[in-house]
Amino acid sequence: MRTIPVKTASADYPVYVGRGLFAQVSRHIQISATRSAYIVTSPEIWALWGKKFLAAFPRDRQPTVLFLPAGERHKRLSQVERLAVELAQAGADRSSILIAFGGGIIGDLAGFLTAIFMRGIDYIQVPTTLLAQVDSSVGGKTGVNLATGKNLIGSFHHPTAVFADIDLLQTLPDRELRAGLFESIKAGIIRDATLFRFMEQNVDKILARDPAALERVIVASIRMKAQVVGLDERESGLRMILNYGHTLGHAIEVATDYRKLLHGEAIAWGMLAALQIASARKTVGPDQARRIEQTLRAYGPLPGFRSTPAKLLAAAGRDKKNRAGIRRFILPKGIGNAIVVEDLSDAELDAAIHWTLSRAR
Ligand SMILES: NC(=O)c1ccc[n+]([C@@H]2O[C@H](COP(=O)([O-])OP(=O)(O)OC[C@H]3O[C@@H](n4cnc5c(N)ncnc54)[C@H](O)[C@@H]3O)[C@@H](O)[C@H]2O)c1
Ligand SMILES: [Zn+2]
Repeated sequence: MRTIPVKTASADYPVYVGRGLFAQVSRHIQISATRSAYIVTSPEIWALWGKKFLAAFPRDRQPTVLFLPAGERHKRLSQVERLAVELAQAGADRSSILIAFGGGIIGDLAGFLTAIFMRGIDYIQVPTTLLAQVDSSVGGKTGVNLATGKNLIGSFHHPTAVFADIDLLQTLPDRELRAGLFESIKAGIIRDATLFRFMEQNVDKILARDPAALERVIVASIRMKAQVVGLDERESGLRMILNYGHTLGHAIEVATDYRKLLHGEAIAWGMLAALQIASARKTVGPDQARRIEQTLRAYGPLPGFRSTPAKLLAAAGRDKKNRAGIRRFILPKGIGNAIVVEDLSDAELDAAIHWTLSRAR
């Protein structure tokens, strides 16, 4: 088991990466007469892993299980309220602890629930998708979607620990695995050239879920994120680079109603689009651009989608990174580094959108 510490201004907690971590989760939670535990998961994940997970808890100290239906369209405030009612009815109080057992949707929503339930209770993350392990479970961002955009309601609320169990990925569909790998490629592009090179050179091994290769990718991705979040918890500067590919990626998700693409796939399109701008501005050279595009495509195929430039532009305009009318945009700077630019022109954004739409059809 590997331990990666996350140290921010407001929180300090471990991320554990390894195989067969359920017993450690139970030990960490310490259910007692005065501390009750609740699990938020989805019926699908629970059918696969529930029995095994519960078996790690003492028979007379079992957590209560609550369900959230799968799918981005359920990452909404109405579900937070429903689950809060269920928590209250089940007797949860300030000292209760919640386990978010699922992918990024469950982690984001359950994390937000614990941020506001009785003004805040403890929770831990047990991410079950690769995307959640390498990205969403670390860093304390929690929240839900509005009809007008992703994650527009939320809060910073860190878990007390994260348990990234690689065994859980055995049941993950291939497409979900690849979607998570796109966020790891992003981690490499923006801050870890060694990780990028490893992913570039070990495509087959990683896609075949070789445990050692996966562990290496997961540990490096988490390390990168922990470091960035430690330096800039509230996204006033550096943390923005984590959003490489996300301005247009989020716009694509909104424009396709969250139905057509997985988050990681939309972000991969967003990274390719931003890469065009980076190439034109020469923040990446032709050889670097080719390697980035080839590596993203190697972990594909990227499903296509249809939209209009106007729709994507409007959705991109609502980006949370924009402040006081300034449009912020992340560009890779070579491989292993990224910059935030504030002078992106309409023409540049328009060209990137047209490039993407012509290839995504
Ligand atoms: N908070 C953050 O910093 C942050 C960062 C990145 C993404 N996110 C959010 O994460 C969400 C996407 O997360 P995701 O990609 O994990 O999607 P997800 O939570 O929808 O899970 C993907 C699918 O995989 C299934 N699944 C999960 N674990 C499984 C397993 N072990 N075996 C078999 N099937 C399994 C789920 O039932 C679901 O259908 C988005 O809402 C995104 O906004 C948040
Ligand atoms: Zn993302």
